[in-house]
Amino acid sequence: MAVLEIVKFGHPVLSAQALPIENINGDLQKLVSNMIETMYAAPGVGLAAPQVGIGKRLAVIDVTAGEDPSTLIVIINPEIKESEGELVRDEGCLSVPDFTAEVVRPKRVFVTGMDLNGKNVEYEATDLLARAFCHEVDHLNGKFFLDRLSAIKRELIKRKIRKKVQAGEW
Ligand code: NI
Repeated sequence: MAVLEIVKFGHPVLSAQALPIENINGDLQKLVSNMIETMYAAPGVGLAAPQVGIGKRLAVIDVTAGEDPSTLIVIINPEIKESEGELVRDEGCLSVPDFTAEVVRPKRVFVTGMDLNGKNVEYEATDLLARAFCHEVDHLNGKFFLDRLSAIKRELIKRKIRKKVQAGEW
């Protein structure tokens, strides 16, 4: 296993639609192992494949950030089929380090996808787990939590990022 480089806001793979996964093979299993290790090393509660430079519809989630690895979820081709309610919480992203903002997300979602054995899976998720699913599915659609903010808040953060880029700190 290996800790992979996490690409940051501005990298084109993060702004593109990730492609559905059709074959689960050894390469994919290796990628998943490395993504899990990368997420735990960060540490983070979720990581989508585009964040390690791979434009495929795959994410790993552990809302305990490794404290209880039994909560680990690997989901391939996730789709949010239903969502309900609203919850505002501070949210960050490993690809947008050092920035957080309050983001409105559904309180409850129903998610379908596939596990690493190619078996169909579904999750009924609330609160933080619902937020994590929404955040990671956004990544697979080329979106960031920044896209969920008001234009003013978004531009403020983007301006700060541009300054970091110019200073060679991004
Ligand atoms: Ni993220």
